[in-house]
Amino acid sequence: MAIAKFFHTIKLIVELQEENGMLNNKIRIAIDGPAAAGKSTVAKKIAAKLSIVYIDTGAMYRALTYKALQENMNVEDEDEMTMLLQQTEIRLFQHEDGQRVLLDEQDVTDEIRLEKVSNSVSHVASHAKIRERMVDEQKKLANDISVVMDGRDIGTHVLPNAEVKIFLIASVEERAERRHKENLEKGYTSDLSQLMEDIRQRDERDTNREVSPLVKAEDAISIDTTSLSIEKVVEQILQAIEKKV
Ligand code: C5P
Repeated sequence: MAIAKFFHTIKLIVELQEENGMLNNKIRIAIDGPAAAGKSTVAKKIAAKLSIVYIDTGAMYRALTYKALQENMNVEDEDEMTMLLQQTEIRLFQHEDGQRVLLDEQDVTDEIRLEKVSNSVSHVASHAKIRERMVDEQKKLANDISVVMDGRDIGTHVLPNAEVKIFLIASVEERAERRHKENLEKGYTSDLSQLMEDIRQRDERDTNREVSPLVKAEDAISIDTTSLSIEKVVEQILQAIEKKV
């Protein structure tokens, strides 16, 4: 898996941070939680506020899943998926509009959000060999820089020594409503009860898988976003960060 371009961008950011004397205050923020709990929205805002890198780890699992579906492969077969990953190049890079995802040189940033990908990705992410490689790459990406990273196992496995760990939760109803609204705003057809069922199933698979299941790290701060605005959630996380640095 090649991540050279992303490293290059990170190197530039590191140089900038060095120039500004920011590296002495290196901070790693881990944001975990179930599907559609608002992790990426909040993480992007925190990253912008602190001028640090945002890494969306779910995008890596999604890119591999997208390729597997394109090639009509069996996402439940660990050996098939492991072989596929060996022949796959996934690059994350920082664009002025945010993180973009390149799969074998093709920009799939939008495609990996398709419902068919969302409904299959947790199968791919349940395989031990896939996780091992993804987690290795994610650790390298966060090496030596300030980052905010979101996913399911960031506080527990990817960045176990993160200075700040957040676990975002929200009711299934609220999360489905948010996705439904987003879909309608984008002009997509959307079925609220189907969304609720899909989210429930994905949570179930992510929480009950054998390898690094979705679980709150012992030292993570839980925030229930059900009745909170994005701004309020961001404010609470910034306060938690302030206490640490
Ligand atoms: O965060 P997002 O919803 O894009 O993640 C898609 C899927 O990727 C999750 O449902 C989960 O199965 C998997 N994932 C994971 N570990 C991560 C990030 C995502 O298992 N760190």
